[in-house]
This record gives sequence, C-alpha cells and structure tokens, in this order.
Amino acid sequence: MQIENSSFLVTGGASGLGEAVVRAITAQGGNVVIADLNEAAGQALVAELGAKVRFTRCDVTNGDEVQAAVQLAEQDFGGLQGSINCAGIAVVQKLLDRDNNPADLEAFSRGVNINLVGSFNVARLVAASIARRVAATNIASSDANQETEKNLDQGVIINTASVAAFDGQVGQASYASSKAGVVGLTLPLARELARHGIRVMTIAPGVFGTPMMNSIPEKAREQLELAVPYPKRLGAPSEFAKLVTHIIDNAYLNGEVIRLDGAIRMT
Ligand SMILES: NC(=O)c1ccc[n+]([C@@H]2O[C@H](COP(=O)([O-])OP(=O)(O)OC[C@H]3O[C@@H](n4cnc5c(N)ncnc54)[C@H](O)[C@@H]3O)[C@@H](O)[C@H]2O)c1
Repeated sequence: MQIENSSFLVTGGASGLGEAVVRAITAQGGNVVIADLNEAAGQALVAELGAKVRFTRCDVTNGDEVQAAVQLAEQDFGGLQGSINCAGIAVVQKLLDRDNNPADLEAFSRGVNINLVGSFNVARLVAASIARRVAATNIASSDANQETEKNLDQGVIINTASVAAFDGQVGQASYASSKAGVVGLTLPLARELARHGIRVMTIAPGVFGTPMMNSIPEKAREQLELAVPYPKRLGAPSEFAKLVTHIIDNAYLNGEVIRLDGAIRMT
C-alpha cells in the first residue's frame, strides 16, 4: 500500500508515538485525521503540518466520536486506508495496597476500557468505512478483474499493545491485561477482515521516550534504559513510526504482533 495520497486515522496522534506516526505519514505524502483528547496539542500539529492533517477531539471509547472522526476522513480525504491506534493510558495500582485494601475497580476498568475496548471500537468503525469504500469502488468498476481484486491491499489496522502484555510487572494488572487483550484481538480480526483485503497488525513497544515515559522519575528511567540489552536507551518515537510505515507498505505482514523493544524482557 502506498502511503502517498492514502489516508489514516491516528488515535492518540497528538503526543508521543502517535505524533511520530502523524509526522512520518505526512512526510511521505499521506493524509491523517488525528483523533485525540488533547485539543491544544492536536491543533498545534495541524497548524504546523498543514493541509494533509485534520484534528478532531475524540475519546476512543465513544462510538459517536470515533464515527465522527471516520466521517471527517471520508469527507475531507475521500475515505480511509487504515488506522493506527496509539491512544492509551497506563494505570498503575497493586491488587492490594500497603494496608491490604483492595484495588480501585473503576481505575482497573478505565485502563481496560481505553486500551482494549477503545482499540476494538476504532477497528470496527474503520473496518466498516473501508469495506463501504471497497464495495462502492467494486460497483463502480464493472470490468474489474475478480482475481486481481481479491489480492488488493484495501486497508490496514495497526494497534499498539506493549511488552507488558507478555511481561507484566507488579502494579500493571490493568495495563498488562488490557494490552494482552489487544494482542488477542489481532488474529481473529485479521482472519475476519481477510475477505475485505484488510490487514490487522499489532506492535508491542518496549520503553520509548514519550511524555508517558517522561512522567516517571529520572532514576526509574535510568534503570529502564539499563534493562534494555541493546541499544541501551529508550526507543525513539520515530523508530516506532518507521515500523508503522513499513507495516503499511508490506502487504505480507498480517495477523502478527511485533515486539519493538531492544530485546528488553521486564523482570
Ligand atoms: N511510551 C512507551 O514506552 C510505551 C511502551 C509500550 C506501549 N506504549 C503504548 O503506546 C501508546 C502511545 O503511548 P505514548 O507513550 O505515546 O503516550 P502519550 O501519553 O505520549 O500519548 C497518548 C495519547 O493518547 C491520548 N489519549 C489518552 N486517552 C485517550 C482516549 N480515551 N481517547 C483518545 N485519545 C486518548 C492522549 O491524549 C495522548 O495524546 C499507548 O497505547 C501506550 O500504552 C507506550
């Protein structure tokens, strides 16, 4: 799939990994609708990057708001070729606190809702939009070669999990289980959407230098860098974006989870 003149919905695109994806796609001539809660940062990116970018304030857990973001892409860019779902939060809490009080159930659910249910919500509405576009194109081109149509790469849905899906640490019950859920979405959605020519991939990042990571204390950050076998540093958001653009380009990548982590294994 060519990025040039294709259009993508990037959730969480106002910051960190999502922002790097927005920059990489527009640098290659693609269009982006940023769907994020952070209006100020999203609008600043639109002002900087220009006509190939739109912003809509959107909570990924809200069906109407994600549908509005999809419609914005349909109206302004003529449809979507895919989505990169980077919206996410990290809920940190132990099952029992120091005094053996049980964890807050609402906080657990919030993490699962944004990270997992949000990923499903975006996937279902983006897939429906791509399927509608493909159906309309097929009706329009009556002389279409059926064999060729079968192997046309019509869309790609890329979700963001985390190495916590596999190596969850103490305090990461909500985060790790929500990201394990994102891993679990990958194969069934890829199998289901195959008949529409839509691929589904998941990236499981290790530790990346984004605002989410910058909020942790300097000492903890240094420990994390030391825990990466090679290269001994946090990942750069641009390295995440490079993998995203490769996945978009490489039609044989489907139904798989790729760890992007400098070989880190969380202890
Ligand atoms: N940074 C890392 O080391 C790392 C590692 C593994 C996985 N991840 C995952 O990568 C993704 C991006 O993380 P990041 O480090 O860029 O974080 P970030 O905090 O820099 O960016 C996340 C963005 O998501 C947006 N967002 C949060 N909740 C939202 C919602 N309900 N609806 C729409 N937008 C929402 C925020 O406004 C923010 O702009 C997350 O899913 C995170 O769990 C990050």
